[in-house]
Amino acid sequence: MLSQLNIRTLRNVSDVTLFPSAGINIIIGQNGSGKTSVLEAIHLLALGKSFRTRTLKSVVQFGQPHLQVIAKTIGNMPVGLQFSILDGLSIRLNNAPLKRLSELASQLPLQFIPANSHHFFEQGPKYRRQLIDWGLFHVEPSFNFHWQAYKKILQQRNSALRQHRKRNEIQLWDAHLISHGEVITALRRKQLDNLLIEFKQIFSNICPIYKGAEYEVKYREGWLKGETLSAALEKTIQRDEQLGYTRSGSHAADWSFRINNFNPADVFSRGQQKLFSLALCMAQAKITADVKHEKSILLLDDLSSELDKDHQQNVLQELELLPVQTFITATELDVIPSKKYTVFHVEQGTV
Ligand SMILES: Nc1ncnc2c1ncn2[C@@H]1O[C@H](COP(=O)(O)OP(=O)(O)O)[C@@H](O)[C@H]1O
Ligand SMILES: [Mg+2]
Repeated sequence: MLSQLNIRTLRNVSDVTLFPSAGINIIIGQNGSGKTSVLEAIHLLALGKSFRTRTLKSVVQFGQPHLQVIAKTIGNMPVGLQFSILDGLSIRLNNAPLKRLSELASQLPLQFIPANSHHFFEQGPKYRRQLIDWGLFHVEPSFNFHWQAYKKILQQRNSALRQHRKRNEIQLWDAHLISHGEVITALRRKQLDNLLIEFKQIFSNICPIYKGAEYEVKYREGWLKGETLSAALEKTIQRDEQLGYTRSGSHAADWSFRINNFNPADVFSRGQQKLFSLALCMAQAKITADVKHEKSILLLDDLSSELDKDHQQNVLQELELLPVQTFITATELDVIPSKKYTVFHVEQGTV
């Protein structure tokens, strides 16, 4: 959670300092005023990357050598990030340089919900896996170890397949792949079960038409149902050799929630799809906060798109109850007034 935020020469924001509240912060302004850029700055600080572009060069203000985002987290720990066109990225936490981005990410659990957040259903399995893994990274300390190890072994196996190595050389990797893969599967299942419990509650509050609906998790491990990973790898070795990569495994997992025995993608309106994504992120934030005893940050770009006033109100009311610090962007007309919210007006890159 952030108590102070200073953004310098990032897109059209030249030098802005905000003192966000611990609850709901609303950033209001016209199109192109710099609202999303403020969210982008927070995202950059927590994750070392933008949600708009892969090349941070385009995030640096035109004609400037670098951008900076400097913040204080609760407890007054200073965090600073600089991206310089010449020297790249550098991050400082508590006045000491950081080597790995994941250290920062674990300090500032953050989720970004884009304006078109119904895209949960349009994205592939990778996106859905990342969503679950994000939660696990924060609440289950062993997950990252297993996942990193799994990815490394998978790379080795795939490279052996590409190089047409002998079968026993390829299968040398299987035992390790299986042992990490099984832990990953068990952790993901547990996370999904926990997530569904929170999701149900939140979703029925923000989308009351589905109050009392039946919810169910569908998890696909990444290999044939009812089989072990060991059996799957054994069975598909010939095909893997032809393809030059490993088809089955935790890297191919996918999941969904079914509601009243339907796939929400087939029955939900756009607005309901957005509420679905929102409830998911809110549920993850809740679980994370419960475990870490610290609020996580939710960035919500353009709450009003696809949502009518009543549903926006439901979302805001739910956010008030959750242990999250939220940053929401909106245009002037969309804002639902409340004394409980901290409002920042953005105009051509100034606040
Ligand atoms: N590298 C840059 N330097 C300066 N201005 C930029 C840069 N990149 C984008 N902009 C401008 O910054 C403004 C902020 O955009 P954005 O934050 O998306 O606005 P909003 O979300 O309020 O609609 C836009 O007018 C955009 O053209
Ligand atoms: Mg915007």
